[in-house]
Amino acid sequence: MNIYSLKSEVHNHINEHNLLNNTVGLVPTMGSLHNGHLSLIESAIKMCDKVWVSIFVNPTQFNSKSDLKNYPKNLNKDIELIKSISEKISVFAPETHEIYGNNIRYRKYDFKGIDSELEGKYRKNHYHGVGTIVSMLFFLFKPDKAFFGEKDFQQTQVIQKLIEIENHKTQLVICPTVREKNGLAMSSRNSLLSNELREKASIIYETLIYLKKNFKSQGFNALISESINKINSNNNFKTEYFEIVDSNSLKKLEKFNEKNSYRAFVSVFVGNVRLIDNILLN
Ligand code: PAF
Repeated sequence: MNIYSLKSEVHNHINEHNLLNNTVGLVPTMGSLHNGHLSLIESAIKMCDKVWVSIFVNPTQFNSKSDLKNYPKNLNKDIELIKSISEKISVFAPETHEIYGNNIRYRKYDFKGIDSELEGKYRKNHYHGVGTIVSMLFFLFKPDKAFFGEKDFQQTQVIQKLIEIENHKTQLVICPTVREKNGLAMSSRNSLLSNELREKASIIYETLIYLKKNFKSQGFNALISESINKINSNNNFKTEYFEIVDSNSLKKLEKFNEKNSYRAFVSVFVGNVRLIDNILLN
């Protein structure tokens, strides 16, 4: 398996292997891989001739130094996991300096406001950081397809906008959220939870399912309050936001319209670990 840490090595690989006529797939990750990532990689293998996985904890998308510092890292284990899927995958795992030089800053994009809803309200400039790194990766790999998880649905919509803004040929492939046995959405951050809290965190998905079931029969404001109470009634659980939004604009549902599609999004602090999830409602 090829593992590169320099952009020049990636360029050489692409030139040497004449990848121009292959379908190139990219799975961008921040490492600490779990089954959610592995399912993205498996989809990429099925749909592409050549697959790259990038592993890079991108500093410009973190708005808290301690969050960045505590973000789980495990490059050797990640590489073993990728190898177990296929030795033919190539990995790009650069150091921060290789990506940003001495200028660790995000670029500003006009994502037409979808970046300032939901996560954007609580993680200021987060999506400019995501856009900055994904743009660099798209220019480096020129992927035909790029694979992202539905768990980060807002991120997928921001990346679709980035593709349009920068005219990338890349097709966005959104893969379903992979869940632990108890329903908790897989996330690298789950490894920071105690076993007890990880088990109890099933309440997040249970509440989303409950909301989906009752979405059309109950007033949505009352349903949101009930959902927040359900989650917060557990010790150490504090809902940061719980919103029902239009699936396209990501703007808060004000007046239900049968013709529109809606999603519920939630962010919860479980102890000091921040978890997010979402569900399509109709
Ligand atoms: O979803 C993630 O893991 C990150 O936001 C991404 C897309 C790899 C960019 O750093």
